[in-house]
Amino acid sequence: MAPGLNGEVSPAGGAWERADSATRRPRAPGVRGQGAPRGGERMGLPADLFAPEHYAATRRPIREASTLPPYCYWAPEFYAREEERIFLREWLCVGRAEQVPEAGDFFSAEVCGRPLIVVREKGGGIRAHLNSCRHRGTAIAEGDGHCTAFHCPYHNWTYALSGELLGTPEMEEARGFDKGQYGLLPVRLETWGGFLFVNFDPGSPPLLELLGELPALMKNYKVEAMVCTRRQTYEVRCNWKVYVENAMEEYHTPTVHKSVYTDRVPLESWVVEETRGLYEILYTETQGSLALLGDEGFPPIPGLSPKELVGSYIPYVYPSLVFLISPDTMFYVIVEPKGPEHSTISMGNCFPASTAARPDFEAMAKRYYNRTSTTLPQDNNACEWQQRGIRAPGAQPGRYSVREQLVHHIANYVLDRVLGPASIDSSGGSVGRWGWRKLPAAAGRPGG
Ligand code: FES
Ligand SMILES: [Fe+2]
Repeated sequence: MAPGLNGEVSPAGGAWERADSATRRPRAPGVRGQGAPRGGERMGLPADLFAPEHYAATRRPIREASTLPPYCYWAPEFYAREEERIFLREWLCVGRAEQVPEAGDFFSAEVCGRPLIVVREKGGGIRAHLNSCRHRGTAIAEGDGHCTAFHCPYHNWTYALSGELLGTPEMEEARGFDKGQYGLLPVRLETWGGFLFVNFDPGSPPLLELLGELPALMKNYKVEAMVCTRRQTYEVRCNWKVYVENAMEEYHTPTVHKSVYTDRVPLESWVVEETRGLYEILYTETQGSLALLGDEGFPPIPGLSPKELVGSYIPYVYPSLVFLISPDTMFYVIVEPKGPEHSTISMGNCFPASTAARPDFEAMAKRYYNRTSTTLPQDNNACEWQQRGIRAPGAQPGRYSVREQLVHHIANYVLDRVLGPASIDSSGGSVGRWGWRKLPAAAGRPGG
């Protein structure tokens, strides 16, 4: 009988709910989750959800560690804490600067339930505004497009690209109404490498401070000058961690990607690189471009180092941007959590502008598009399979392979943020505090 279904206590040592194996419903008196609308799905959710002892096994060094408790991947309470302590505090990638090349170009987005407008101003800068009219709150822009000013579709209040309130019909008699106080509400937006990041926390350190050494490591690729030539969006029924954990381990490639897997990139070739900043990096040497399925591709970007010319990096910027960069191209994936078990995945294929200007570009680029259109859906399916199983009543934490070092890092990053970095004694080998300390000193701030 599976542990946990017959009233055993979880190996994590916490106050787990006991369960009746016949009905798979909680039977201990007073536990949370009784009467939950979807059968036994809340089984395994401890009453003291954020007590550090439930996560002690994940804090151990990887060879001894257990994976996160399964409820971390579906429980609304855990997800709400992640929203509050991760997604409302960190820099979140929302797209690329080339989506708004001209002044007046804009796109709308929804991040953490907050509707945003991202717009290129007349001076050339890019801003983010809350997509909410200061009159009675209507969203003033939809989709993407170009405009010289934003007109609210309800009563036609008008805003400059900068967010300044310009026009307010029939408001002359409103006493003490100062238009200067009613511009669109600004949202922090900073850029690196052509990526646009927003942050809802006024106290967050600047983006570049948190990125640490990543910009220097990537400088030869000139990511900021690349152009995105194709974008795709996928709705995936999985928790955001399921998606990024999958993206940052190659252990699954011989099985999930068996239709295209070859030994030109053996598992042993993948290396987890040391990092200094709020990011992770995988590197591998490859024969041919990792962004292709063995086809011949574009020539390498000029100015790459010998290591860059023979390999590829997969950087992950916590919490939601992953990109693969090879000598000829880059593709990125933005993971937007839409709920505990739903993520929107936005991907883009990017190339140096000189490559995109080649006469044979469209024909050759299809090979790169074919690669991402083949492997990303395979990953999406794998994530949905995992989500279906991890939410099974009675599911228990598993163990890590040493090939899942970054899955373990991601779990500990989440615990650092959700519980606080000093939430557990690290004398037993916790990586939580180590993970925090490897950040630049100025990046340290209480996560609890
Ligand atoms: S809600 Fe926008 S003008 Fe009234
Ligand atoms: Fe994959």
